[in-house]
Amino acid sequence: MTGDGLRGSPGPDRPVLVLDSGIGGLTVLREARVLMPERRFVYVVDDAAFPYGNWEETALRGRLVELFGDLIAGHDPLACVIACNTASTLALDALRAAYPQMTFVGTVPAIKPAAERTRSGLVSVLATPGTVKRQYTRDLVEQWATKCEVTLVASVNLAALAETYMRQGLVEEAAVRAEIAPCFVEKDDGRRTDIVVLACTHYPFLVNRMRKMAPWPVDWLDPAEAIARRALSILPKASPDTPMTRHDDTALFTSGGADAVTRRLMQGFGLSA
Ligand code: DGL
Repeated sequence: MTGDGLRGSPGPDRPVLVLDSGIGGLTVLREARVLMPERRFVYVVDDAAFPYGNWEETALRGRLVELFGDLIAGHDPLACVIACNTASTLALDALRAAYPQMTFVGTVPAIKPAAERTRSGLVSVLATPGTVKRQYTRDLVEQWATKCEVTLVASVNLAALAETYMRQGLVEEAAVRAEIAPCFVEKDDGRRTDIVVLACTHYPFLVNRMRKMAPWPVDWLDPAEAIARRALSILPKASPDTPMTRHDDTALFTSGGADAVTRRLMQGFGLSA
């Protein structure tokens, strides 16, 4: 997996590394860039392994530990943001154990805020099959949402639909409707799901389509800003004198390269690829 594409140029201007299997982490990166305009970001797309949601757990954990070994050696980041629920719920502990000097910020299903906000007590968590399977996710429900009824909904296709939508601007609305349908639960007493947790960073890109296809209005919970704020809170404070020159933020692809459409998409998010 060690390839020249994953190598950087360690130096005083240490970057913040943001990783996902695809475009999903851009939802977190765009918030992070707003909150930390003085920071340099390297966005890592593990596209050679997309979709993470279908991987077997031991193999994906091993891949992530190895990949971060290369990335940390190559880029000497200040911190690593895992902008992916599927990876964080699986490998955060292993990564922290393997690289104890590194600060990792994870992205895990926003079950606690959903449980605090719901009025009906019916919360759904929309995620990849991997995230739904995880013990980590089950533990979050146990820990924070015992007073709610939580429906975990595994979506096989939504992450790929979001990839296509962001590249081509098109998405089949019937496919989105079918993927989100199990999130909508109605009880005999009239209570209905009122919050859907977007527990995959790809999904916020489709949220307008989801709103349109939803059988009734719900609150769609996107944790991107909270993740970016968490990263801001644990990074060393930038001095107010830090010059505000825009850094050259870059995107790297584990597949070795991106096609023209993907490069253009990355440029739209301020990344050279
Ligand atoms: N963006 C990733 C997440 O937050 C998942 C996409 C995939 O299955 O690769 O879970």
